[in-house]
Amino acid sequence: DASDIEKGTYPHYMLKEIDEQPLVMRKIIQAYQNENNELHIDEPIVGAMKEADRIYIIAAGTSYHAGLVGKQFIEKSAGIPVEVHVASEFNYNMPLLSEKPLFIFISQSGETADSRAVLVQVKEMGHKALTVTNVAGSTLSREADYTLLLHAGPEIAVASTKAYTAQLAVLAILAHVTGQSCGTVQDFDLIQELGIVATAMEALCDTKEEFEEIAREYLSTTRNCFFIGRSLDFYVGLEGSLKLKEISYIQAEGFAGGELKHGTIALIEEGTPVVALATQEAVNLSIRGNVKEVVARGANPCIISMKGLEDEEDRFVIPEVNPMLTPLISVIPLQLISYYAALHRDCDVDKPRNLAKSVTVE
Ligand code: AGP
Repeated sequence: DASDIEKGTYPHYMLKEIDEQPLVMRKIIQAYQNENNELHIDEPIVGAMKEADRIYIIAAGTSYHAGLVGKQFIEKSAGIPVEVHVASEFNYNMPLLSEKPLFIFISQSGETADSRAVLVQVKEMGHKALTVTNVAGSTLSREADYTLLLHAGPEIAVASTKAYTAQLAVLAILAHVTGQSCGTVQDFDLIQELGIVATAMEALCDTKEEFEEIAREYLSTTRNCFFIGRSLDFYVGLEGSLKLKEISYIQAEGFAGGELKHGTIALIEEGTPVVALATQEAVNLSIRGNVKEVVARGANPCIISMKGLEDEEDRFVIPEVNPMLTPLISVIPLQLISYYAALHRDCDVDKPRNLAKSVTVE
C-alpha cells in the first residue's frame, strides 16, 4: 500500500525519520540563509522578539522538551528572559504576565488542542504569538501572528524524532539572529556549528548496531529505566524517557542528577538501568558522582558522554559538537535505544497503544 512506498526500505517510519535528521539539519540551514549566506529570520519576527520583555514558550510532550532547551538558547544568545509552560496547565494557572510578553507556540503538527486553547486565550488578551511548526497552514500557524517552519518533512511515527531536533535547530537560529540584532551575539558561526551537528548525526545513525546492543543489554526485560543528567542533559533525559515509555511501555523517568538524593534514589534496585548523559563540562564530575551513587545501590549504568569528556567507564561516546548544541545529537542514541527496545519487546513502534499523532482534544 501507499504507506509501504513512503517507508521505502525501512521497517518503520520512526527509523526512517531518525535517519532523516542530518538531511533535515541541512535543509534548515539552507531555508534560513539569505543570499549573502547569513542566517536570516524575517524582520517582523526579530522585531517582536526584541520588543518583548519576556517570552512565554507553550507546548506539549516532546515539543515542551524542545522548549526547555530553547529557553537556554534564547536567554544565552539574546538575553531575553524565557518561561516554558506545559500547554494543558497554562490556562488554569496563568502566571503573572510581564508588560510586553511574546508567546512562542512549539508544535510539530500545529494542531494540538491544549496549545490552541492557550493561543486563543492570549490572542483575546491582545498579545502577540509566534508558532514554530512543521505544518504550514496548520491551525496554530494560521491563528498566530508569525510562523517559523521546521522543514522536517512529514513526521508519521507517533514518537516524535526529527521534529524535536528540527525544533532545536530553528530555536537556535531564532535565538542567534535575535542575539545578532541585539548585539549580544558576535563571532559565533552557527551555520558552521549546525553543519558539524549534521555530520555528527550522520555518524550516530551509522552506528545503529551499538544502540541495538545497548537496548538488548539493558532493556530487554526490565520493568523500569531512569535517565539522569544535569543542565542541558537533564532536558534531553526527559525527552529520552518520554520516547522510551511511549513506544516500549517501560516505565521510564528522567530527572536532574542532583535530585536523586531528594527521593528518586529510593527506586534504585539491583540491576535498574540508569542512562546518564555527560555532555556538559561544567557538570561532568557531578553527574559522574551521581552515577557512583546509583551504582552503589546496584544500578546498571549506561553512561553516554561526549568526546573530550569521556571516561573508560562510558558505554558510548558521541562526537564533539558545540556545547550549547549537544541536545541535537545526544538525543539520537536515546531515540535509537528506545526504537530497538520497543522492537525487542514486540511493540508496535509506529503506532503505540493509547496514543494519537496529534492530540486534537483538550
Ligand atoms: C512525542 O513523541 C509525542 N507523541 C507527543 O508528546 C507530542 O510531542 C505532543 O503531543 C505534542 O505534539 P505537537 O508537537 O504536534 O504539538
